[in-house]
Amino acid sequence: MAEHLDIVEGTKEEKYEVLYRQVVSLMEGETDCIANMANVSAMIQETFHFWWTGFYRVVDGVLVLGPFQGPLACTRIKYGRGVCGTAWKENKTQLVPDVEQFPGHIACSSASKSEIVVPLRRDGEVTGVLDIDSEYLATFDETDQKWLEKIAALF
Ligand code: SME
Repeated sequence: MAEHLDIVEGTKEEKYEVLYRQVVSLMEGETDCIANMANVSAMIQETFHFWWTGFYRVVDGVLVLGPFQGPLACTRIKYGRGVCGTAWKENKTQLVPDVEQFPGHIACSSASKSEIVVPLRRDGEVTGVLDIDSEYLATFDETDQKWLEKIAALF
């Protein structure tokens, strides 16, 4: 890789532009979904140093923990439960500025204060989610949503 993500400077938008290009080029060269989830979670962390970044995959009707970066997390999340299960059920990104205000939020870590969960889809159906947690309130906004949805669309 030519660019080193951890020394990228600039606005959030600029960081996402570089990150997105990196993800596109990574995924052009690799078709294995788990391998790509592992590297994409690492690349997001190298760029933004969030509290937790990772994937859950729909396996036998439940979200099962996939590749991630950060502290250990709950392994299984039911349909409609927590922020992840809601993103799955509603087939829609969940932007949560304060997790304490989200009914049914699943606290994998008490340090997590805000969260964004973006569905991954195949033929319109949710096949998994990209979940990012922050230890600060209101970390995520429409810029994160726009770019993370573009990244999720690559899976
Ligand atoms: N908080 C999530 C659970 C997953 S962890 O944050 C990694 C939720 O409510 O679905």
